[in-house]
Amino acid sequence: MSGIRPTGFLHLGNYFGAVRNYVRMQDEFQCFFMVADLHSLTTHPDTKDLKSNVLRVLAENIACGLDPEKAVLYCQSHIYETSELYLYLNMLAYQGELEKTVTFKDKVRQQPENVNAGLLTYPVLQAADILLHRASLVPVGKDQEQHLEMARNFVNRFNYRYGNVFPEPVAFNYSDQLIKVPSLDGT
Ligand code: TRP
Repeated sequence: MSGIRPTGFLHLGNYFGAVRNYVRMQDEFQCFFMVADLHSLTTHPDTKDLKSNVLRVLAENIACGLDPEKAVLYCQSHIYETSELYLYLNMLAYQGELEKTVTFKDKVRQQPENVNAGLLTYPVLQAADILLHRASLVPVGKDQEQHLEMARNFVNRFNYRYGNVFPEPVAFNYSDQLIKVPSLDGT
């Protein structure tokens, strides 16, 4: 299972870091790929662009080889149960650990005028996406490793309290494909 943010246009970094893995995985596993439109609301995008951005990123991924006949492709906000699970998981997520998340601290620096609660609980929503499918393999880049570690913590707390419901998800990569694509200025 993985989520794709509907921001900007797909670039080579997305392709080599993520989409190429998705395309290979869909032949080997039961896969779910989702456009994370709820996550994108944390940055207050222009509302008139939202729908077309979701469709565009889906079209781009399909053009790269994602196949709706092989994998389940969907839009995050269409599945209400994700939001419900997000609520339950929020009771097991602590303010201290959320505030220490690297991506949260980055966002605080980038948009100090809009440090909303959704930014703080972004990893909780991501965990809900994953646990909803009881997914065990999550193809994501290095920047998402901390979120997966948090998802595993939520799983352990949930299972401890409510019984063995969810497997622990791990980041997945085809090891021969670890690749870095520099930006055009070489950085
Ligand atoms: N947070 C991921 C990103 O910024 C997108 C995402 C949302 C995701 N939900 C997910 C990735 C679930 C993997 C699994 O790219």
